[in-house]
Amino acid sequence: MTDTPASGGSSAAVTAIVLAAGAGTRMKSSRAKVLHEIGGRSLLAHALLAVRGVGAANTVTVVGHEREQVSAAITALDLDVVEAVQEEQRGTGHAVQIALEALGDVPEGTVLITYGDVPLLTSDTLAELLADHHASGQSVTILTAELDDPSGYGRIIRDAGDLVVAIREDRDADETERAIREVNSGILAVDAKFLGDAVARLAPTNAQGELYLTDIVGLAVDDGLPVGAHVLEDIWQTEGVNDRAQLARLGRELNRRLTARWMREGVTIVDPETTWIDSAVSLTADVTILPGTQLLGATTVESGATIGPDTTLRNVEIGPEATIVRTHGSDAVIGAGASVGPFAYLRPGTEIGADGKIGTFVEAKNAQLGAGAKVPHLSYVGDVEIGEGANVGAGTIVANYDGVNKHRTKVGRHARTGSNNVFVAPVSIGDGAYTAGGTVVRQDVPAGALTMSAGPQRTIEGWVQANRPGTAAAEAAGELVTDEQGDDAGE
Ligand code: UD1
Ligand code: MG
Repeated sequence: MTDTPASGGSSAAVTAIVLAAGAGTRMKSSRAKVLHEIGGRSLLAHALLAVRGVGAANTVTVVGHEREQVSAAITALDLDVVEAVQEEQRGTGHAVQIALEALGDVPEGTVLITYGDVPLLTSDTLAELLADHHASGQSVTILTAELDDPSGYGRIIRDAGDLVVAIREDRDADETERAIREVNSGILAVDAKFLGDAVARLAPTNAQGELYLTDIVGLAVDDGLPVGAHVLEDIWQTEGVNDRAQLARLGRELNRRLTARWMREGVTIVDPETTWIDSAVSLTADVTILPGTQLLGATTVESGATIGPDTTLRNVEIGPEATIVRTHGSDAVIGAGASVGPFAYLRPGTEIGADGKIGTFVEAKNAQLGAGAKVPHLSYVGDVEIGEGANVGAGTIVANYDGVNKHRTKVGRHARTGSNNVFVAPVSIGDGAYTAGGTVVRQDVPAGALTMSAGPQRTIEGWVQANRPGTAAAEAAGELVTDEQGDDAGE
């Protein structure tokens, strides 16, 4: 293999151009096509990360349609990309002219051209294309694929000696040419000097009246320069997104690849078909994922954790041996051995300490639980710190919002709070303190105290028979009373 940037070679020699100025009309979207996402990443981010993987010295992205949106997205990615603006989309050749102008001088070495809407293309494939290009000494090396249905693509025209002599666009092809199944993926490696010279010679002599980049192949052949194809078996990597159906298709294939990769790395995925894992998620061997689970964003999971079934987690950090069942969560941290769910909702800022618990029908927001702290049943805990080893009783509501502002609550270490409590924030319950069932805690509770807010229990004997005569409850109570008695008792 010759030197390629990916294998530690002269990275300074490669300039990448990513074409992303096209309209994407068939998406029928107010969002730029290249900003639609699969695997939690925009199509453009997939393309730019693939290019970054070969260590190009410069990367230029050609933007045009929905330019403000696309520019903002590029800036947000922070990938050191030069933008070239193509005001009017006059074809792929014109887009490359604009990219070269944005670079100033025609670069040295090799130019790698890719598309912003081809998301499955990998850095490895680009490195192989570059290696082939450099090893063969070709002026142009086209990444091609053999498709069962080549319609719509530019066809690779070879001569009797099987050498590539031209690329013919679908609209410009004749019957014989249309039958060719080898297509231009649009991705190619070109000698920079030749490219600079060739794009200046392009003419819009075709069905669309555009400057076709593909015409540089014919120009190279005319100049007696060698042209070749690098045929890619994995045709998914050459597929672009034009509409929502393709977006879904490629999204599913990306997911199939990601789940397969994690299974190879020792993750148990019971049902890969109903498990969705974003590109940036990080898993560890011996994680188990049950059906119907989506791990999104920058979620990370440590060894021995079990997630699912039917769980969606975005940007959640999950410690070793944690168990998360039927849960929806985002921007949260789940400690080692902690347990969550079934039917829990973890909102941003929630942190569960080691062996802690957020149980059934519990919503937590910006709640920090110490090690072993538990909120097991039917509660809302928001803007609260719950100390190590504390247990919050069933049906507790942290009233964090006074209608205008949010306030914080603190529950001390090893506190035991009763069922059906309301903690009216801001309020603090001391270390080791107890609260009685049904308490509305409005004032701070000192460490070690028992607090209760309900009055002493009062019992009125015979109240049901007197006030609800004839009801099932009265009958169950066992005493039949006359209407008169009932009326009297009711007064
Ligand atoms: C192009 C190729 C075709 C190839 C196919 C692969 C040409 C002439 N044809 O055709 O051989 O089989 O891709 O998908 O190159 N773009 C710009 N500015 C423009 C025009 C296009 O940035 O003025 C960008 C688009 O955003 C897109 C890419 O270039 O990412 C390809 O453009 P598209 O219009 O889809 O070209 P095709 O007709 O599909
Ligand atoms: Mg296209």
